[in-house]
Amino acid sequence: MLTLIPQLGIGTADLAAAFLFLYGLHRMSSPVTAPSGISVAGIGMTMAVLASFLYAFGVSAAARPDLPVNIGLAIVALVLGGGVAWWSGRKVAMTAMPQMVAMYNGMGGGAAGAIAAVELLGNKAHGETELIVTLAGALIGAVSLSGSLIAWAKLDGVIEKPLRVKGQQAFNAILMLATVAVGAYIVVASVDPAALVFAMPAAIYLFFGCALALGVLMTLPIGGADMPVVISIFNAFTGLAVGIEGYVLQNPALMIAGMVVGAAGMLLTLLMAKAMNRSVSNVVFTNFGEAATHKQGKIQGSLKPVQSGDAGIAMRYAASVIIVPGYGLAVSQGQGKLFEFVKLLQAGGVSVKFAIHPVAGRMPGQMDVLLAEAGVPYDLIVQLEDVNDQFASTDVALVIGANDVVNPAARTDKSSAIYGMPILNADKAKKVYVIKRGEGKGYAGIVNALFYADNCDMVYGDAQTVLIKMIEAVRGLGLPAVA
Ligand code: TAP
Repeated sequence: MLTLIPQLGIGTADLAAAFLFLYGLHRMSSPVTAPSGISVAGIGMTMAVLASFLYAFGVSAAARPDLPVNIGLAIVALVLGGGVAWWSGRKVAMTAMPQMVAMYNGMGGGAAGAIAAVELLGNKAHGETELIVTLAGALIGAVSLSGSLIAWAKLDGVIEKPLRVKGQQAFNAILMLATVAVGAYIVVASVDPAALVFAMPAAIYLFFGCALALGVLMTLPIGGADMPVVISIFNAFTGLAVGIEGYVLQNPALMIAGMVVGAAGMLLTLLMAKAMNRSVSNVVFTNFGEAATHKQGKIQGSLKPVQSGDAGIAMRYAASVIIVPGYGLAVSQGQGKLFEFVKLLQAGGVSVKFAIHPVAGRMPGQMDVLLAEAGVPYDLIVQLEDVNDQFASTDVALVIGANDVVNPAARTDKSSAIYGMPILNADKAKKVYVIKRGEGKGYAGIVNALFYADNCDMVYGDAQTVLIKMIEAVRGLGLPAVA
């Protein structure tokens, strides 16, 4: 009876946690239900963590890990880790979110690798199949750990330039083969000690060393612009590694959580690559942005600066405005002022919509989250495929801190780094206003011909500051609000 209660508790908690992970993920598919989806998945994770403590109390030998469990140490680790995560999660700026995701993802891969290391060094994995599965999890987890840390360093500006040397990809392929060879040696020597040539712990350390180096060398040559996609790939790796180690430990909650994360990461990778019109192999093996250095043909037209107030007033007299938010809006944290401006326009009878590009900003869904933060109703937010035909019949397209996602070169210039990427048709609107600080380029590092077009005026300044001036100008008109 004493053994039955913890076992039943573990089984029930695992099942409930798995259900909550899946249900939480399902709710994350819409911005309306996403916040509650995150809470639901969080409750599932808390249940899974608490259930893992029941293993220590499970008096049955089958339900207990071989090693004595140091509950005190586990609680200290949980409190410290949870505390740091809570503090950093509250403090992090929206623009620094990709770095944070990279860091946490690396921790997940590292945790899976650490489980595998304990299994291998403690000689707990028995038989060829279990050894191979453990080593596969170790390899994927270690690559994800070191690769994610390099991705973090790139996004945080610690590593500023991609590091590329001739023959790098061939070297990486050789390193991959060497890692697999060391893994094969570990399996053979573990199953048949007669085949042991050099000490087993040394082989295991070598295996991890090669895998960690592989993650570093794979990520170093990839440019900063591709880091969000790379993080998503490593996210899928981490999920896979966790799922594999869950299988090794025969822990259903780990298996399900790992597979859900792995599948979600892979789907996200494919969606992001599709939104940029690139293949995943192109992201990993081609240096994005290199084409940006090509000699760009002479751009026709000129940059035409206008005052913030004048642009604001012009929009107040327009019948329809489509707003294209981009990375610069997140940098300026101008979303609150933007919505205030939108409400003023709406009160004046102007029809206003927000057009969202799937890769606007620096992480998937960043613009949706930003607008949700400001309280923008979801029915004003329209995705690229639904809004693109509407630009031609719209009076004003207001581009705020966006650049690549409205660059017409994606349609016409075959040598451009973003050629083929679907863009928002802002250039087709009757009038375009672009808010940006100066002549800074977008992430792809290319000049945008839209800014030089006849129908486009530039409103220079930080997005939030410009929006404050626009609000003042429209309010200054003293027009009665239209019901
Ligand atoms: P970007 O093309 O990166 O352009 C942002 C523009 O914002 C810059 O030209 C900059 O010009 C301006 N800016 C910066 N700070 C500002 C501020 N405080 N106030 C006003 N303007 C400011 O942005 P985008 O159009 O959103 O495109 C996103 C890019 O990231 C795409 O190339 C996309 O492929 C890439 N990317 C995105 C993702 C995801 S998932 N979102 C993933 C991978 C890659 P100034 O310096 O002149 O102000």
